[in-house]
Amino acid sequence: MLKGRSLIEPGNFSLEELDTIFNLAEKIEEDETYLREGCRGKLLATLFFEPSTRTRLSFEAAMLRLGGSTLGFADPGSSSAVKGESLADTIRMAASYADAIVMRNPKEGAALLASRYSPVPVINAGDGGHHHPTQTLTDLLTIKRLRGKPGAKMLAESVKGLRVGFCGDLKFGRTVHSLSHALARYSGVKFFFISPDELRAPEYIIRALDREKIEYNETGNFDEAMPELDVLYMTRVQRERFFNEEDYIRLKDSYILDREKLEKAKQNLIILHPLPRVNEIAVEVDKDPRAAYFKQAKYGMYVRMSLLASILGVV
Ligand code: CP
Repeated sequence: MLKGRSLIEPGNFSLEELDTIFNLAEKIEEDETYLREGCRGKLLATLFFEPSTRTRLSFEAAMLRLGGSTLGFADPGSSSAVKGESLADTIRMAASYADAIVMRNPKEGAALLASRYSPVPVINAGDGGHHHPTQTLTDLLTIKRLRGKPGAKMLAESVKGLRVGFCGDLKFGRTVHSLSHALARYSGVKFFFISPDELRAPEYIIRALDREKIEYNETGNFDEAMPELDVLYMTRVQRERFFNEEDYIRLKDSYILDREKLEKAKQNLIILHPLPRVNEIAVEVDKDPRAAYFKQAKYGMYVRMSLLASILGVV
């Protein structure tokens, strides 16, 4: 049922379809040889118009582990975009060579536009400050694996009653936009949005929570929110989205998670971060058993394997 489908924002897949993806990802994690040759003969185009480490490499690793191949660019400066080729034409070309396209682009809406010109599935690997749905798959799988009931088949069972805090740049952080949007589809999740006033979550996110009557709290006070949380989602202040360097410098260290701050946190808290980290999590926190961000990055590979196998119709 996912064969041939694009993923532009988390809401594109039903909750049942998301469960199928998570369950397959867990099966692959359990037995890394499962589907090892599943995508043999298939090609994935990775078109990255913005820098990436995790998303691009984990998609490439996912495709290679499935027995498929990849082609693409990590720097738009090496593509014909610099000669003025339109995104629509670039996508038409990539679609004529590959079975699926993964694209990151600084323009909001670029992935949706690409999907309209592509006869093969398009996966949004981040469109400006808008959405990053495969990071959300990664985040949800991590929550399921680390906070869920063992053996639970539905994510809904794992997130019910969770108190999730988002901290940092909630204005430009596309991973926050996608994850809060995705979690709001499940009942019983309470949100804490912790940010400086200038980096508050966009109005459209807050309005959607109001419409759905979802409980949330917007605050600038990290210490006050900390004891409440089951999941803490730290984010980097997105330097590349600021119009003015002075504002970035003033806001970049608004919240730094360190050992002292964690003294007030629950013992079974999980600390997530989409990475890359700059200053917002002190390195000393890496040793804390609650720090889950490196595990989270690895789950990203398994969930992308599951997604690729599903949209390419090999399962
Ligand atoms: N989380 C994430 O999107 O990381 P990259 O920018 O390194 O891909």
